[in-house]
Amino acid sequence: MNKEIRLILVLFISLLFGACAPEESIGKAVPEKIRVTDSNETVKIGFSMDTLKEERWLKDQALFKKAVEELGAEVEIVAANGDDALQLTQAETLIQQGIDLLVIVPHNAEATAAIVQKAHRAGIKVIAYDRLVKNADIDLYVSFDNEQVGEMQAESILELVPTGNYVYIGGATTDNNVHLIKKGVFNVLQPAINRGDIKIVYDQWTEDWSPEKAFLNMTEALAANNNQIDAVIAANDATAGGVIQALEAQGLAGQIPVAGQDAELAAAQRIVGGTQTMTVYKPIQTLTQQAAALAVRMAKGEDVTTVKYVNNGKIDVPSILLTPIPVTAENMRDTVIADGFHTGTDVYGAVDR
Ligand code: BGC
Repeated sequence: MNKEIRLILVLFISLLFGACAPEESIGKAVPEKIRVTDSNETVKIGFSMDTLKEERWLKDQALFKKAVEELGAEVEIVAANGDDALQLTQAETLIQQGIDLLVIVPHNAEATAAIVQKAHRAGIKVIAYDRLVKNADIDLYVSFDNEQVGEMQAESILELVPTGNYVYIGGATTDNNVHLIKKGVFNVLQPAINRGDIKIVYDQWTEDWSPEKAFLNMTEALAANNNQIDAVIAANDATAGGVIQALEAQGLAGQIPVAGQDAELAAAQRIVGGTQTMTVYKPIQTLTQQAAALAVRMAKGEDVTTVKYVNNGKIDVPSILLTPIPVTAENMRDTVIADGFHTGTDVYGAVDR
């Protein structure tokens, strides 16, 4: 059967069954054309990343590639260095190159909606990876439970510091995750704030998650409060690193509990060294394996169903939210090291056995 006739047949069948598709099946956001992948053709996935700046994204890049290739598919990976315009043109290039499905880590949750539209016009479904795309007919969202990330950070700091002055150092406002993380933090802190037990004396976002900006914000927080700070919650380990440098400059590192996220190697070292209290570990391998498996299935035209939905301002997006893990010095070995995320030698130094 030639390709045109097959395409018309598939279109006809999908129109027929689309009308009676179950509520929870992915495909609410029906592309304007349906892309057909011949079962003998190798599936090609495009992976458009925001950045490779933080250590975690290098793991995402390598592990996603491995997971896709293990499934017999191909992947083309691009990274936009935090530049919205570049992310758009890179995605357009992937679409022109004939990818079967696009996986995207948006730099800007809102601006990326244009990419979703372009992909859909070409009959290509789009998966939001780690970060949600807002106001778009995104086909699937695969991430960790970001609200839970914030809750874990706040629970662990509140247990250590039930009263006192708190600083909140958020992430980049362009990233939807930061709003979820902050919501989680305040779910836990709000009752203590209401009781008057703790006081938020400084609360600031960090442009582009930059450690340098976090350093400046923390320096400002310390100065404005005459160094009378009792605890800091930072949205990730990169910003926690900036915070700890600012504390070091005042001779306060190790005296004030600091929370982060990502289980970056530098953060794991700070935790066992005593200058950072905790991090939230998100097993990237699980995320890449789930995203790759679903991407390949969807690229082959399979319907995928999910139990959860997350509203993105336009639709309820079928979502998979994995569970994060809080990590302190006590469970470092049983979590990040046991998983091979970092080696014991990397975390503890050459003396580790
Ligand atoms: C991710 C974090 C990461 C941050 C900065 C967030 O969307 O969930 O893991 O640290 O972006 O890249």
